Amino acid sequence: MCGIIGYTTKKNNSVDVAIAGLKNLEYRGYDSSGIAFNSNEGLTIVKSAGKISNLEEKLSKLSTASNCAIAHTRWATHGEPNETNAHPHRVGKITLVHNGIIENYASLKKELQEKNYEFKTETDTEVATAYIDYCYSLTNNKLQAIVDACKKFRGSYAFNIIYEDEPTTIYATRKDSPLVVGYSDVGNFAASDISAILNYTNRYSLIDEGEFIKITNSVVTFYNKDLQEISSEVKTATWDATQYQKNGFDHFMLKEINEQPKVIQDIFNRYYTNCTYSDIDFSAFDKIHIVACGSAMHAALVGKYLLQTYAKIPAMVEIASEYRYIEELITPKTLLIVVSQSGETADTIAALRLAKEKGAYVIGIVNAVGSTISREVDKCIYTYAGPEIAVATTKGYSSQVAVFSTLALNAMEQKNLLTDEETNNIKNELLNIKDKIDYTLAQANTYLDIANDIYSHNDLFFIGRGIDSAVCMEGSLKLKEISYMHSESYSAGELKHGTISLIEEGTPVIAIATDNSLFEKTVSNVKETKARGSYSIFVTTDEHKDYNFDEFADKTIILPKTNDFAQPILTAIALQSVAYETAKLRNCDIDKPRNLAKSVTVE
Ligand code: G6P
Repeated sequence: MCGIIGYTTKKNNSVDVAIAGLKNLEYRGYDSSGIAFNSNEGLTIVKSAGKISNLEEKLSKLSTASNCAIAHTRWATHGEPNETNAHPHRVGKITLVHNGIIENYASLKKELQEKNYEFKTETDTEVATAYIDYCYSLTNNKLQAIVDACKKFRGSYAFNIIYEDEPTTIYATRKDSPLVVGYSDVGNFAASDISAILNYTNRYSLIDEGEFIKITNSVVTFYNKDLQEISSEVKTATWDATQYQKNGFDHFMLKEINEQPKVIQDIFNRYYTNCTYSDIDFSAFDKIHIVACGSAMHAALVGKYLLQTYAKIPAMVEIASEYRYIEELITPKTLLIVVSQSGETADTIAALRLAKEKGAYVIGIVNAVGSTISREVDKCIYTYAGPEIAVATTKGYSSQVAVFSTLALNAMEQKNLLTDEETNNIKNELLNIKDKIDYTLAQANTYLDIANDIYSHNDLFFIGRGIDSAVCMEGSLKLKEISYMHSESYSAGELKHGTISLIEEGTPVIAIATDNSLFEKTVSNVKETKARGSYSIFVTTDEHKDYNFDEFADKTIILPKTNDFAQPILTAIALQSVAYETAKLRNCDIDKPRNLAKSVTVE
């Protein structure tokens, strides 16, 4: 987490450009921010707790004409998010911004204290700054000092570094945290993500681990760890800057919810017109492990259900940070599917590296093109959902579910589990799914109505069975992360084994029953909560529209019926919309909920 940007230019607007870029990185963390810029008075550092707007306020009172700046937006790991701990950090001749964690900072700090270095902050980053300064004092060679210091660092980092005696040059390097270089005619960049620089250039290079970069306003030079010059491929980004704007929507989240009809339809068109995964031999594996974090893990739960139930392949889902504890189960006959919107989640990267060491074949379902996961997996299936800015994922999640559907269907075709008629029916449905997603989105008044019913409560429960149980997990997470309402998700049959004691008069329960074979059982479970006073919201499909809901449901959401390969997407969209409306009624910061970050690059 944390976003960094550095810009060195032939003009004098480096501060404005760096701040504008930093705002596009705010999804990576937003508890404090800071900037260092070169001017006639030397290197000035300005920092502020809270959002970037607080930093802008301070900068507006200063003269900020400058030809080189490095800036940082923080998600605190070491030390509270106050001004002192905010980046940039400066020690001796070194000023830097850092994304990542230096895990062995405590021992390095001790070593440096014995050499009379003093520390003002609680951060690992100040120690890294001091360590580079110390190495520079030994070698008097700027690149060598960075190489030497990095050999000592354990953990993850992306650095933008300025030396006091060369204040218009930025030095950069990375390990396990993302960083790209950007090129323009008037200057050059190093930033956590291409989104930070797209307003100025679409030419960029990815930085590989172990590369060290020297960036001036006219030349960017890549070096390996032996400080030999190396070449780097210059790529052209195909995204355009308007994808990073709200385009008339109140929030990015709402915009992204509304992008789902196209994103999902594109996935089914792209990956399900033919047997597109013919390069994956599903018979070569005895099991599938699916590993991810957060909402991506919830998409994995739907994927597990589809692969197991329909493609008949044993599958299990593991939270990425727990995967290493079952490493004895990973063999060369394991197919690991890692799922990640950002492609940079540290725990997911660690899991995929472990599985590769063990000889497993690894597929990635990834949104961010060129990200670490997309580059390290054996096969990357892109969701191509476009940039997702709201911290709470919507189209990121549903696009992952859609890719799982296409994987399960391809596996079924490979295993001859479908008749031609069944294949045709499924294809007809999925290749026209956009209409049903549009219809689901069009029920905005129902979602607002339900939000009005629930927004003043403190607790809420989601229940469902089978594939609905997996979607409940995501519905519950969406609600709590953006509205700060406490909510829990339970398999409908499990609620009575303890948690039902929390149901009181008026406690909202959202029950989902889209699977016909499980409908009656879920209805019974809702009735159990109703008998104890719940306010029940029942989500089902139009196949049951004539059912008598009155005896157990206070409100209903009736979704279009489709097959299991698309139904979870419709349900999730309805739940995203309820969460969005609820958060709005509770006056929450919908796009940037407290304490969160979108890209979690620390373990
Ligand atoms: C963070 C985000 C979640 C996301 C998770 C995994 O916790 O707040 O929305 O689901 O990371 O991110 P990934 O980029 O790997 O999908």
